Amino acid sequence: MLEIDGLVSAYGRIEVLHGVSLKVDAGEIVALVGSNGAGKTTLLRALSGVQPVKKGSIRLEGVNIEGRPPFERVRRGLSQVPEGRQIFAPLSVADNLALGAWTCTSKIEANREKVYELFPILSDFRDRQAGSLSGGQQQMLAMGRALMAEPRVLLLDEPTMGLAPILAQQVLDIMRTIRSMGTTVLVVEQNVQAVLRVADRGYVIERGVITTEGSARELLNDPRVHEAYLGV
Ligand SMILES: Nc1ncnc2c1ncn2[C@@H]1O[C@H](COP(=O)(O)OP(=O)(O)O)[C@@H](O)[C@H]1O
Ligand SMILES: [Mg+2]
Repeated sequence: MLEIDGLVSAYGRIEVLHGVSLKVDAGEIVALVGSNGAGKTTLLRALSGVQPVKKGSIRLEGVNIEGRPPFERVRRGLSQVPEGRQIFAPLSVADNLALGAWTCTSKIEANREKVYELFPILSDFRDRQAGSLSGGQQQMLAMGRALMAEPRVLLLDEPTMGLAPILAQQVLDIMRTIRSMGTTVLVVEQNVQAVLRVADRGYVIERGVITTEGSARELLNDPRVHEAYLGV
């Protein structure tokens, strides 16, 4: 579904991704974990096309999309939920969702109903200003907005950041529902243990290099992962 090979990316002369390779199969939930500053957000932004890439390829359903503009990647089925959510605070919940559907404007109503089914709280609050929602609700809105474009692959950047544990768990559990609706998920998290409990496979990134990969179970039992990320 998504195949990244030898991706190199830099800010000016400072290279922060040093040849990252990973793949996500159709129907998988894959977690990318690593410390602050490891390059996770840079990688997701490179996939979306808003961060320049120096070398490497990004294949989406077999087509190399590297070098293609961001809007084309969205059209081809890649949607990102950015770090920090980036919802439009002054607009209503319903309008935030509508803005996510710019690739398929004829389906705004139908897709919005699907999002409301997935997140009933957004349906209750459809006319409220997005900025008045709680952090967890804003995360749901950001996910819903990305789903409005009918992505084949959903990229999530730290969806549980700043959320209380119960809400964080809800947000992670929703990834399973999203997967069951036919969308493949690549999720970046610092909440390592929790994300590996819902993911199928995972990768560990350290200083711009993938250092470990395996099934979620393997990573949960990996002593290096324990030592570095689970505080054991
Ligand atoms: N806009 C930027 N300009 C310069 N350096 C940046 C910028 N954004 C991130 N970096 C640097 O790139 C590295 C990776 O950052 P980032 O991808 O945000 O990591 P993560 O998401 O894993 O916390 C860090 O060393 C960070 O300081
Ligand atoms: Mg980040």
